[in-house]
Amino acid sequence: MNTKIFRNMSYGVYIVGTMDGSRPTGCVANSIMQITSSPATIAASINHDNYTNNCISESGIFSFSIMAEDSPSDLIGVFGFQSGKDADKFDGVEYEMIEGAPVLKRTCGYVVCKVIDKMETATHTVFLGEVIAAEVYEGSSPEMTYSYYHKVVKGKSPKNAPTYLPEEDDAVKSEAAATSKYVCQICGYVYEGDTLPDDYICPICKQGADKIKKVES
Ligand SMILES: Cc1cc2nc3c(=O)[nH]c(=O)nc-3n(C[C@H](O)[C@H](O)[C@H](O)COP(=O)(O)O)c2cc1C
Repeated sequence: MNTKIFRNMSYGVYIVGTMDGSRPTGCVANSIMQITSSPATIAASINHDNYTNNCISESGIFSFSIMAEDSPSDLIGVFGFQSGKDADKFDGVEYEMIEGAPVLKRTCGYVVCKVIDKMETATHTVFLGEVIAAEVYEGSSPEMTYSYYHKVVKGKSPKNAPTYLPEEDDAVKSEAAATSKYVCQICGYVYEGDTLPDDYICPICKQGADKIKKVES
């Protein structure tokens, strides 16, 4: 089975929002798709180990905000590389509450859904949501595709993403072996250069140079 073909599938990059009691929380997801137009219905695949999964089940509501190419890339670090169990992810983030769910400003816009059904797989729950609100933020730049995230932002996917490929780690190692490259141990971002500046900050997850290691050939 050549799982590299999965990289030819197209996705967007979304920030899922939901509620942990009265506290907003959420995570990055690319595995979201529209299922029907009338009534508008969305499916979202969320890993059992993600805190967001339990919060969506409990609250019965989720939103997703559509990342734009010029959305702050550190949103992916905040929402995709740490857990709402340990962090207040919406602290310091520009958002608004719509129909009881948090949605992020500085994105293309949002969709809010109430959960109408769900299906379990071995690792992920597929939540089916009926759309109860949606809006476009005028003036936002093109949406960020998953391919743009990998090729231009040079971001990686953690193991909880349904589209994670183990080959991605190998690709980082072989790329790094070809020239001097440094890999962020938190989000997998690759920095290229002869030396890593002491005050270097990862553009994705905002970690310092101590979390960024040179990959030895
Ligand atoms: C680009 C990208 C795509 C991701 N896609 C998904 C996804 O579709 N489903 C999912 O469950 N996790 C996905 N993740 C992983 C979660 O965002 C990540 O595990 C997050 O830390 C979970 O946070 P939580 O524990 O607060 O829910 C993705 C992460 C990134 C960076």
